[in-house]
Amino acid sequence: MTIAIEMGRTSSGAPATLDLEELLATRLLVQGNSGSGKSHLLRRLLEQSAPWVQQAIIDPEGDFVTLADRFGHLVIDAEAHTEHALQLAGERARTHRVSIILNLEGLDAENQLRRASAFLGGLFEVGRDHWYPMLVVVDEAQLFAPAIAGEVSDEARKLSLGAMTNLMCRGRKSGLAGIIATQRLAKLAKNVAAEASNFLMGRTFLDIDMARAADLLGMERRQAEAFRDLERGHFVALGPALSRRPLSIRIGATDTQPRNTIQRLVPLPSEGLHNPSAIILAAPPPEAPRPARRAPAPPAPDLLSQLIAAQSAAADKPAEPPETPPSPEQRAERRARLDRILTAILADPEAGFRAIGVLYQDFLVRCRIEGLGPAMPNSDIPDLPAFRRMLTRARAGISAQDTGDTAEDAIWADITDRAAILPEDMQAIFMMLAAAARAAAPCPSDPTIARAYGTRSLARARRVLPYIEEQGLIVCQRDGAGRRTITLVELAWATAPADPNAEELLAG
Ligand SMILES: Nc1ncnc2c1ncn2[C@@H]1O[C@H](COP(=O)(O)OP(=O)(O)OP(=O)(O)O)[C@@H](O)[C@H]1O
Ligand SMILES: [Mg+2]
Repeated sequence: MTIAIEMGRTSSGAPATLDLEELLATRLLVQGNSGSGKSHLLRRLLEQSAPWVQQAIIDPEGDFVTLADRFGHLVIDAEAHTEHALQLAGERARTHRVSIILNLEGLDAENQLRRASAFLGGLFEVGRDHWYPMLVVVDEAQLFAPAIAGEVSDEARKLSLGAMTNLMCRGRKSGLAGIIATQRLAKLAKNVAAEASNFLMGRTFLDIDMARAADLLGMERRQAEAFRDLERGHFVALGPALSRRPLSIRIGATDTQPRNTIQRLVPLPSEGLHNPSAIILAAPPPEAPRPARRAPAPPAPDLLSQLIAAQSAAADKPAEPPETPPSPEQRAERRARLDRILTAILADPEAGFRAIGVLYQDFLVRCRIEGLGPAMPNSDIPDLPAFRRMLTRARAGISAQDTGDTAEDAIWADITDRAAILPEDMQAIFMMLAAAARAAAPCPSDPTIARAYGTRSLARARRVLPYIEEQGLIVCQRDGAGRRTITLVELAWATAPADPNAEELLAG
């Protein structure tokens, strides 16, 4: 049985439908500038699908709470609950199959991220018996999966990015279908956007967003220019659940109204004030004591930091005899174990598609299981930046830890520094190219690059080399046979020529 809900009408007046079953498998990304009608579109989708499928709505502004009266969603005011409680709420919502609106209004950005990720984490926690299909709608998704660091702490951003990546990459297995909407595609983390196969594109002004949209849809940039002229409520639909070709649709009406409606223009009173100055500038009343401002609630600690805190508390206990510094052999042995843990994590074929926050948590847990202790100042368990460096090197096929050869290490430190001008997800590619060039090994093929880039799209991977070349780090050349050579600028190391289309040999 297919269940098609009606989103609106096509330009020829035919019903524009969305196949729910297919949507569950292929997820949806909605993009459009402010006022283009995204929230209205989400509301239409939620209203039409409410009889068929359980829903969770991550609602940063409390816009969607009005759905509750009509459709029976439970509204959770995130402000009133700890992260732990929200995680449990997420689990229970799935166990008992209750639709939820997570209202995040009133929280600062940091806590919006923390609490939303706790709740999303809960949705993932439940066992197989409860993996019923569920739509998970995230409005203003760029807040929860930002492309670049913003005002929130690194930790909150990583947690939230991890949760959103999980939702879009791995939700399907457990029945969760991510539906995300954003004003600015360029502000949304790429890996999160890339996992959607269905798109509804609304009015878009900025070139950079248009270019990203064109890339995602596999359109020419010129074609994407059409997004600039879309009217409010009009979207271009594409994807297996919507339409096989780009289709213009107008979103239909909704039964319920958003709570925060835009103020309409109201004519000014026809008769002006008799004496405006006397009224507007009347003496102020005596100052009343100011109500004490509510101190911002401290962020509720999350599980990871609790674990780390508990571990460091345990480690702070004096009792033990003073530690002797580890011998070089012991250090080398520990390093080798860290390397092995990282290798084990990267051996999972899905690892390339996971956010670093998710991988790091996995890494810490495995370290603790191995009895290597928590990440603390002075311990040799890498912190997140160090872990990122290890990962970059490991993905590039260079020993994750320092090689022990000082001259060689200095060169690699220099190369790591150069890589820093690239976006995070491209650094590993550059390191991989550097390793190949260092060894004069064959130039990595596009499929290999796609894998290291964490994408399943060759087209996306093919845009990486020109970008790195534009940054002045490499020079790409083709020989008469179409084989590619990459030379590192300044160092003049070069790869051996190789076919860019060669299929990756499955190692191991
Ligand atoms: N298809 C439509 N039919 C009728 N009214 C619409 C339609 N789409 C949007 N509107 C109205 O236009 C206004 C803006 O729409 P909406 O709030 O959905 O925009 P948005 O893209 O979510 O903007 P923002 O990014 O600022 O949240 C709202 O008052 C909404 O009711
Ligand atoms: Mg909106």
